[in-house]
Amino acid sequence: MAKYEICGGTPLSGTVTISGAKNAAVAILPAALLVSGKCRIENVPDISDVRVLLDILSGMGAEIAWEPGNVVLIDCTGVTCTRPDPELVRQMRASYYLMGALLGRFGRAHVALPGGCNFASRPIDQHIKGFLALGAEVEETDDYVDLEPGPEGLKGGRVSLDVVSVGATVNIMLAAVLLPGQTVIENAAKEPHIVDLANFLNTMGASVSGAGTDTVKIRGVQSLRGGSYAIIPDQIEAGTYLAAATATGGNVLVRNVIPKHLECITTKLREMGVRIINYDDAVRVQSTGRLRCTTVKTRPYPGFPTDMQAQICVCMSLAAGISRLTESVYETRFFGYCAELESMGADILISGKTATVTGREKLHGATVHAHDLRAGAALVIAGLAAEGVTTVEDVHYIERGYENIIDKLTSLGAKIRRIEEP
Ligand code: EPU
Repeated sequence: MAKYEICGGTPLSGTVTISGAKNAAVAILPAALLVSGKCRIENVPDISDVRVLLDILSGMGAEIAWEPGNVVLIDCTGVTCTRPDPELVRQMRASYYLMGALLGRFGRAHVALPGGCNFASRPIDQHIKGFLALGAEVEETDDYVDLEPGPEGLKGGRVSLDVVSVGATVNIMLAAVLLPGQTVIENAAKEPHIVDLANFLNTMGASVSGAGTDTVKIRGVQSLRGGSYAIIPDQIEAGTYLAAATATGGNVLVRNVIPKHLECITTKLREMGVRIINYDDAVRVQSTGRLRCTTVKTRPYPGFPTDMQAQICVCMSLAAGISRLTESVYETRFFGYCAELESMGADILISGKTATVTGREKLHGATVHAHDLRAGAALVIAGLAAEGVTTVEDVHYIERGYENIIDKLTSLGAKIRRIEEP
């Protein structure tokens, strides 16, 4: 088990370069299963979720090589396996994209139910609804999902999602790309990684339109061919560094970002009193003094992301006045970190979907546990802003999604080190 030891109180200062988007990478790498030929994928973040996914694909027969500079070469032409290793599948959430990708490529799949960050109940009924709409027969047990063609075979279909789901939108897109006919997904998720997946698929020869709106249309094609594609920068990693600079009273240039994707976050940080300067592919955040309280409600994109809830909560904990933070995607997400933040001096009252955060002048160091990826990142931010020493335990959660976090923070002046425990 590894932990981070942070000696807090130094405002972050300098430049940080953002990696490729985790949630785009974990959709695009399984999408390579649909491609005949070699894909060259650039800007792949070297994080443990990506490593696990590549291990799964390689165990299924994919040829995979990392090239310097975060490039992955992946050729799934020789894959014949439709049953990915269940032990590996259970180590991460996005392994459920193997269901859609295998259904699309082979017309069948037998995939264990995924693991990953368990901050809430995370059903997959909408994914299943989509597979059924494409003509699949689905058997779901407590351990796995088994998919095969129904009596009329697989073909394009229309599905209206009952809740806006990133995962279901991605899975249905993957399953539909090679099927005959047209598939229409209504009430689709609009996150930047949905658009990125559509752009990847279209680059390889697919016909996907409407990604980024709430209606995605997929006209099935016979095959996809290999090619090159660069993954977009990580919206949430960028938001995390913006929040870290905000909470520590710093001045940081966050590079390799798409500022438009960050507007939902930078608008709120600006309301809290920091100066935000947008450039073509960078955003600067500059402290202007004590933070001000604000009100935030998480929503699907283009709203404020649930994956930034914990990080903004740390900023609120240090702002003058009483802030309100409402979670509308995963109600139970507060429980992963609020008690830990309270042990550092934060004042948070949770009532149903809303946390009322009374800002304090200072937080103090403590030993805290990361319970999931974003909760862990928030505790790191709190440790950087707090007086004294903070130890964040169970950092393997953080390393699922943040590439080189220690080096990146150190380059911004943070006093943070990773300690490997026997
Ligand atoms: N939902 C259902 N049924 C479904 C699917 C989702 O009821 O079949 C509900 C969920 O319970 C939730 C809401 O719909 O209330 C949205 O869930 P969604 O399916 O969009 O989440 P996801 O696809 O499982 C992705 C990200 C998460 C991020 C959420 C919301 C990936 C691999 N994961 O999860 O990212 O929190 O969208 O934006 O893309 C993270 O990166 O730390 C992370 C957890």
